[in-house]
Amino acid sequence: MRLQSKAIHAGVDKDSAYNSVITPIYQTSTFRFEDVGKTNGYDYSRTANPTRKALEENIAALEGGISASAVATGMAAITTVLHLFRAGDHIVCTHDCYGGTERLLRTFSESFGLEISFVNLSDLDAAEAAFRSNTKAIWIETPSNPLLNILDIQALSAIAHAHGTLSIVDNTFLSPYNQRPFELGADIIVHSTTKYLNGHSDVVGGAVVANQQDLADPVRYLTNALGQSASPFDCWLVLRGIKTLIPRMKEHEKNAQAVAEFLAQHPCVKKVFYPGLKEHPTHELAKRQQHGFGGMVSFEVEGGIKEVHHVLRSTKVFALAESLGGIESLIEHPCSMSHASMKPELREQAGINERVIRLSVGIEDVNDLIEDLDQALSFKQVNVLSAVNEEDELIESENGNAGTI
Ligand SMILES: Cc1ncc(COP(=O)(O)O)c(C=O)c1O
Repeated sequence: MRLQSKAIHAGVDKDSAYNSVITPIYQTSTFRFEDVGKTNGYDYSRTANPTRKALEENIAALEGGISASAVATGMAAITTVLHLFRAGDHIVCTHDCYGGTERLLRTFSESFGLEISFVNLSDLDAAEAAFRSNTKAIWIETPSNPLLNILDIQALSAIAHAHGTLSIVDNTFLSPYNQRPFELGADIIVHSTTKYLNGHSDVVGGAVVANQQDLADPVRYLTNALGQSASPFDCWLVLRGIKTLIPRMKEHEKNAQAVAEFLAQHPCVKKVFYPGLKEHPTHELAKRQQHGFGGMVSFEVEGGIKEVHHVLRSTKVFALAESLGGIESLIEHPCSMSHASMKPELREQAGINERVIRLSVGIEDVNDLIEDLDQALSFKQVNVLSAVNEEDELIESENGNAGTI
């Protein structure tokens, strides 16, 4: 089957009880034994559940892996993978990863003795030089969040393998429709299924996918042992979302390309980050490695924090909110929201300054999106900023979420 057919069918045609076409939600914690010591394949839902199994088979099929574990969140997926390593092991991680990934790696380093190097992995010599005798894995996130830098998965996986280590790819930003890391040499793929795979902003979830039995087995063991498993209802929602992954991704990309081109010519925009623009420094690599450019666009506002706050407060279709990959458009400020938990020096090193705004471009009518951004970016023309408090400074979320998301 081709990808679109797999998205709809893989893992789901298995209901032997009543032949339901759509996977039932097995909302049960436990399963009756058929006899002492004999089950019908399931005993307890932390260990395995038929609805979760359908989703796991579906995601494994889309990524071309042999097995997937569906877990409670994207961070649970990363936590599960990090438990493959021991105190004293070293991991090389891209320096502009998701803020929560940086925070978790830092926690593992401070509390459990993992050694972490954050490295600019677009520099292959720097990547090579970062390997030590105790290095066990390279952690790749591409496109990066929020600056959409593209890393060469094939080249980095080759370096990892030459050193006898694993290549781990976070494929959240593109989904298996746009990028298939196993074909480029990755050994493990992680997802926040919260994002494009589910696609409807109504669930948090994650997945770990393996393409070798000697990795699939420990990941499955750890998912159960650590208690990371996703709930049956959440799995059902993600499975339903995946059925429309491909048509959604096509619309996201079409709209994102138009939004990026609009922003690129706007006088109040200093810089646009979108791999689909020819001027993007890794456009050619994105074309070669990816099957599409995705739905995320970031840009730097011409001006300072006052102008940034004005834009964030002015959009009406783009909602000011964290997360990404849903059908609706979102706008956010990485420095004070998604990446607030990241150490400021690492943020700076990665080029994430306070003028950067990130958009998750949804699948609304693109004209509404462009009109919305145009009116929010109108500050030069109408000089609205004279009304903005001169003291306006970088504000972090009041409810403390900025530190925790
Ligand atoms: C690239 C990436 N990986 C992992 C995560 C964590 O996922 P979750 O929020 O589902 O725990 C995120 C969240 O934004 C992300 O952007």
